[in-house]
Amino acid sequence: MDEQLATELALLKELGFTHLDVHSRGAESVSDEDQRALLEQMAGVARACEKCRLAKTRTNVVYGVGNPNADLMFIGEAPGRDEDLKGEPFVGRAGQLLTDIIKAMKLTRDDVYIANVIKCRPPENRNPEADELDECRPFIRRQIEIIKPKVIVTLGKFALQSLMQRGYAITGARGQWLEYNGVKVMPTYHPAYLLRNPAAKKDVWADMKKVMAELSSASAETSAP
Ligand code: URA
Repeated sequence: MDEQLATELALLKELGFTHLDVHSRGAESVSDEDQRALLEQMAGVARACEKCRLAKTRTNVVYGVGNPNADLMFIGEAPGRDEDLKGEPFVGRAGQLLTDIIKAMKLTRDDVYIANVIKCRPPENRNPEADELDECRPFIRRQIEIIKPKVIVTLGKFALQSLMQRGYAITGARGQWLEYNGVKVMPTYHPAYLLRNPAAKKDVWADMKKVMAELSSASAETSAP
């Protein structure tokens, strides 16, 4: 068994899980309500988590929000001050910009699912450390397994590198399709970077157009007789 998988299974066992629902896309029988309940169960596990030093300084665990059956999932880095206080991802200035991007895609925050690779705020918004990313990774992996999105958009370098467990450079990877466990992944810039470099918004919009095209061809395939 792969080492990462073994670590995650050990973590879930330690957290009290006795079995996992492993469904393949297409043979799906889990309802929205079941997905919501599974996510809530994992959010409870995250709220009790003390596996890394961030547990000591957090106000709230920021697990994730949105549609438990979303076709599109946005994955960011880690909560900042506003998110830590509210317990919700992307609610500060960068979050407002993400909300605007979602609206420009003719969607709402309730249509998509939004989460981070790190669930607790790093003090002073410092970069997440490697061991923090490792300890937190089972949560995002499980969220993806439950939601089964058609497309994942990673926002910035840390989300991309932590999810894919590879040292991609964001400038090279941005705008190119990758794959995570059979799900298409579009890496793009983090909204906080766009606040500092508004000229890069056009690149993100080009990436979101690819995402919209992929979502509409995926839904045309699903609804074909
Ligand atoms: N930046 C992130 O990466 N995530 C948030 O939730 C907020 C800001």
